[in-house]
Amino acid sequence: MTLDDLIYKPGLLQGQRILVTGGGSGLGRVMAEALLLLGADVYICGRRLAVVEQTAGELMQAHGGRVVPLACDIRDDAAIHALIDTIWADGGALTGLINNAAGNFVSRTEDLSSRAFDAIANTVFRGSFCMTLACGKRWLAEGRKASVLSILTTWVWNGSPYTVPSAMSKAGLNAMTQSLAVEWGGRGIRFNAIAPGLFPTEGMSARLNPGGGEHIAEGNPMGRNGRMPELANLAAFLMSSGSEYLTGQTIAIDGAQYQATGGNFAHMASWTDDDWTAARQNIQSRTAEDKRLRSA
Ligand code: HXC
Repeated sequence: MTLDDLIYKPGLLQGQRILVTGGGSGLGRVMAEALLLLGADVYICGRRLAVVEQTAGELMQAHGGRVVPLACDIRDDAAIHALIDTIWADGGALTGLINNAAGNFVSRTEDLSSRAFDAIANTVFRGSFCMTLACGKRWLAEGRKASVLSILTTWVWNGSPYTVPSAMSKAGLNAMTQSLAVEWGGRGIRFNAIAPGLFPTEGMSARLNPGGGEHIAEGNPMGRNGRMPELANLAAFLMSSGSEYLTGQTIAIDGAQYQATGGNFAHMASWTDDDWTAARQNIQSRTAEDKRLRSA
């Protein structure tokens, strides 16, 4: 991505300090790059230090500026507090938080265990809330303005079969967005969310399209998937001071896929037992490889 892909003047986010959870890869990396291009100091965290370090290095080499990589598993309260301590000590308060880190995989709900639910809900729902709370307590105590952006899905409005823990968790964050926009609005902290349609990333494809093949824009009124700069432009707008009166909103960016098709995994109702077994094997071999890399 370059500044030419973005629709804003250079320096739009100068002076801002923004944390992107899960910023080492996928949509988080895209948003981190856009924030950096627009002049923000960017912090990215993820479970794998090597991944966030590599991303930070690549982004700074390409664009200059400052990207600070930090390891954090947002399922771990102590890790969240250590991360926030480190960031505040590094140069003062954050001005913004992007709750992007997530975990998800397709599965028939009857095949899930409570641990499978926890693997997703403790990251998406609990982890994002605890990160928001840790930042929010500091902002309130210090009397600072801030912007929180959460990356959701259109399933917050209609649920999603075969990804029920994710749909439940994201719907919870939608409620957080609306609730805290009101509760903390008078103290200058605003909350918005983006519900992206298909912006294919490698991590998402491995778990939501485990049979491989291209993500097709079937049923999308615009006949295509999202382009990364489109998402980045919306995120930058929501983090900028020019959108300060905009709060409590969840904005879909999906080519109207949700209105046309529901935007979820209802089409998997036709999968056979063998399809589900193969999907589970593909997803779990990918998760095992991730774990191997995390412990390497
Ligand atoms: C059924 C499964 C399973 C599967 C894991 N489990 N995969 N159950 N089907 N395919 C079960 C395991 O058997 C285990 O339960 C429990 O889940 C925990 O498994 P772990 O491997 O220990 O989990 P963990 O290492 O914590 O891995 C977390 C993860 C993994 C969520 C499972 O996928 C991950 O780290 N993902 C991060 C990246 C990611 O998911 N990106 C996609 C985000 S896309 P038992 O009982 O057996 O112990 C997204 C929205 C996209 O969020 C929107 C598109 C429109």
